Amino acid sequence: MKDAILRYDGREYALPVVEGSEGERAVDIANLRNDSGLITLDVGYQNTGSCKSAITFIDGDRGILRYRGYPIEELAELSTFPETAFLLIYGHLPSREERAVFSQRLTENSMIHEEMLRFFDGFPLTAHPMAILSTMVNALAVYYPRYFTDDWEVATFDLMAARLISKIRTIAAYSYKHSIGEPVVYPRHDLNYCANFLYMMFNSPVKPYDMDEDIVKALNALLILHADHEQNCSTSTVRLVGSSMVNLYSSICAGICALWGPLHGGANQQVIDMLEGIRDQGLTVRKCIEQAKDKNSRFRLFGFGHRVYKNYDPRARILKDKLDLLVRKFNVKEPLVDIALELEQAALTDDYFIERKLYPNVDFYSGILYRIMGIPSDMYTVLFAIGRLPGWIAQWKEMHDTLPFRIGRPRQVYTGETLRSYVPIDAR
Ligand code: ACO
Repeated sequence: MKDAILRYDGREYALPVVEGSEGERAVDIANLRNDSGLITLDVGYQNTGSCKSAITFIDGDRGILRYRGYPIEELAELSTFPETAFLLIYGHLPSREERAVFSQRLTENSMIHEEMLRFFDGFPLTAHPMAILSTMVNALAVYYPRYFTDDWEVATFDLMAARLISKIRTIAAYSYKHSIGEPVVYPRHDLNYCANFLYMMFNSPVKPYDMDEDIVKALNALLILHADHEQNCSTSTVRLVGSSMVNLYSSICAGICALWGPLHGGANQQVIDMLEGIRDQGLTVRKCIEQAKDKNSRFRLFGFGHRVYKNYDPRARILKDKLDLLVRKFNVKEPLVDIALELEQAALTDDYFIERKLYPNVDFYSGILYRIMGIPSDMYTVLFAIGRLPGWIAQWKEMHDTLPFRIGRPRQVYTGETLRSYVPIDAR
């Protein structure tokens, strides 16, 4: 591969070009500063690769998403969430034996330490479940402290990963039960991952939960679709925090916090809030579109646009099919679904959205699906976190497996005051 040449101040610098397995090319600038004194500046990392990764491939222009080479469409239809989690973390689909071991590990780690239950009592009923989730995940480092060694220990990592994937679901369901003032429901060992979550969320001593196979399947697909998305805001956070060699639980906690924001995973809750706003304020869809286009307004059409997908988000297409299926099966008469579909049509035919390639993203449909499942809107981002967890773990592992290992530390262009002397307060 030919080097790229940078000409600056009368000199030429040869910069190696790196090529990925799908033909993506990058200019390696790691030595640029040593040779020329220059750094690169890319606010918001719009065009900066932070690592080489073999986990997830996205082609945003062609609407392609693959985990470890497998198309997302096949995984969402044919795989299970634990199997996809194994694939992401360990790089291959599990054999029967590997799947049995992984599944057993998830089952054995599904309960949380009884003492941790007291944490829930300390949270106000109004606490956002994302705040509870991040706190509880970080607290795992307190209750399961054998989490990191100087020598990489495969068995310790395997246990930490399984613990997180299994317990996050229990913590999430318990935070919901706490918010509605009901006793927690312990996990059942005979239920699969998604069914177990729904059971812990919705079963109650006075009203047993009526499990529906298509709801379980839809949840399975939702979690798979969220399981990784290469170097997005929360995943980059997990890598950056993890690069300080802090333990896995705390790195994941940082990822959960990053995901909470409305421009990232928090968008699924914002979509429903927006649709409810349109319904309750009697806004027309047209007015809403105009407001989203108005540069003097801070309003954005949540669930539209993506940093990487400049074509349809393939995850949104799969979710739309799941939505159609549930709407038909349960004969859903939900004004928010109608508003969402009208909004989608209006945006897809509007020049502003067409020119900027703003299509519905995964968050546009996920919120509506969760609503049909009976999940309250402040839990949507929690569901996103449960889904994204295997990806965060896989990326954390890949970073630790890659040598030479370096702490993440970007540079900056300083634009502040130059040297000046301190002035005592009476002289100011
Ligand atoms: N509604 C209205 N205008 C939008 C929207 C939107 N949802 N998204 C982007 N735009 C406009 C911007 O105003 C900008 O217009 P301009 O060129 O006239 O200034 C142009 O489209 C490009 O937008 P950027 O903000 O530069 O795009 P960026 O790649 O930085 O942001 C993002 C991507 C954050 C997803 C953005 O599209 C957005 O805010 N969408 C709404 C929030 C959302 O749905 N987030 C979920 C993302 S998916 C996920 O995290 C799983």
